[in-house]
Amino acid sequence: MLNIAFVGCGRISGKHFDALDKLQDRICVRAVCDSDIERAHNARSSRDCCSRAAVYDSIEALLTAHSPPPNSSQYNPKKENEAGTSNDRESLDAVVIALPNGLHAKVGIQCARAGLHIIMEKPLAIHLSDGQDLVQSCRENRVELFLIHQNRFNPPVQQLHQAITEGRMGRIYSIYANVFWTRPQSYYDSEGAWHGTKEMDGGAFYTQASHYLDMVQWLAGGRPWRLSGQLRTLARQIETEDCGTAFLEWGEIGQPDNLIATINMSMLTYPCNFEGSILILGETGCVKIGGTAMNKVEHWQMESLKAEELDLGSYDTESVYGFGHRSLYTAVVAKLNGEVLPESLAAALVSGRDILDNLMVLEGILLSAQGGGLVIEL
Ligand SMILES: NC(=O)c1ccc[n+]([C@@H]2O[C@H](COP(=O)([O-])OP(=O)(O)OC[C@H]3O[C@@H](n4cnc5c(N)ncnc54)[C@H](O)[C@@H]3O)[C@@H](O)[C@H]2O)c1
Repeated sequence: MLNIAFVGCGRISGKHFDALDKLQDRICVRAVCDSDIERAHNARSSRDCCSRAAVYDSIEALLTAHSPPPNSSQYNPKKENEAGTSNDRESLDAVVIALPNGLHAKVGIQCARAGLHIIMEKPLAIHLSDGQDLVQSCRENRVELFLIHQNRFNPPVQQLHQAITEGRMGRIYSIYANVFWTRPQSYYDSEGAWHGTKEMDGGAFYTQASHYLDMVQWLAGGRPWRLSGQLRTLARQIETEDCGTAFLEWGEIGQPDNLIATINMSMLTYPCNFEGSILILGETGCVKIGGTAMNKVEHWQMESLKAEELDLGSYDTESVYGFGHRSLYTAVVAKLNGEVLPESLAAALVSGRDILDNLMVLEGILLSAQGGGLVIEL
């Protein structure tokens, strides 16, 4: 049983609670926290998985209530708190952080120092240096850090990743990601809104398109070495972009390892979310996974693996968040318990070495765009 605290009971928390409701035999939500305490109370009263959780209005109050016993030199999440049985004093193993992007690193470091494993909503941070500090703090405090990119667990995506790993697409030439969603002005203007701000949001590449950036890198097999980006604010009254394009490149130009990718992104699609897709062109394969959140195989052509031979696992959803959270949590629990994970799930967990890759590329795109589309080498 993994004992967790959930911090940030806003818009995305419902997706997490849907998953956690179904995983109550493996994960126990001991605490919920939101600076808007009504939201935390609401989570406890309305969601089965949170019904036994203690409620806090600040991360400091949460960590103090669950701090280790005074004579313990190091936090041991498995050890029962000496204070006894009250709900808010029970020990924690991990924390889920679903706060505005600009708070991720700071709160993550507080939790790492308290000895908690961290399951962090994307992006890891807004600034690479903050992300590096967080990774360093997790290392020093010997806690695990997982980044939430739930789309990696979508069944069609899992099939595609496995096919690429097995070499069934031959050499990969190019990958094209499209993120054509809708975010009206009201989304940026709503009360307490942090979206569209440089300090808390970082921009649509960080908040919306980072899943697609992650997917491109995962399928390409790592971080690109060259990139450029163009960002524009065409319609919304915000500090950051509402649309943009990035060009990424792997390998040497003119050499067989050369691979290119583009990510096209707009939050101005009329009248609603239209497409969240990835198209991959290889020597012996061409696959498009579309829908609104890479949830549907729209085309699967592969010399050695026909669509008819597979259960491609397409599913319908209007949600741009997909349904990957449950598999993600299952994989996290297994990893923390030292269980052997199926290869496809283990590969989909964003942790360890590749956790900063996304952030490095995001910052690169921003820097390139600030320089008018400058080519950046990472
Ligand atoms: N994985 C996905 O598909 C996905 C989808 C949407 C959002 N997200 C990410 O999840 C995170 C949250 O996004 P959201 O849309 O739920 O935002 P939100 O604004 O709806 O929720 C954030 C919550 O944090 C609370 N909060 C703010 N500051 C706090 C503090 N200092 N201490 C405690 N609580 C505080 C707010 O009151 C709010 O309830 C963001 O990082 C976002 O990028 C991920």
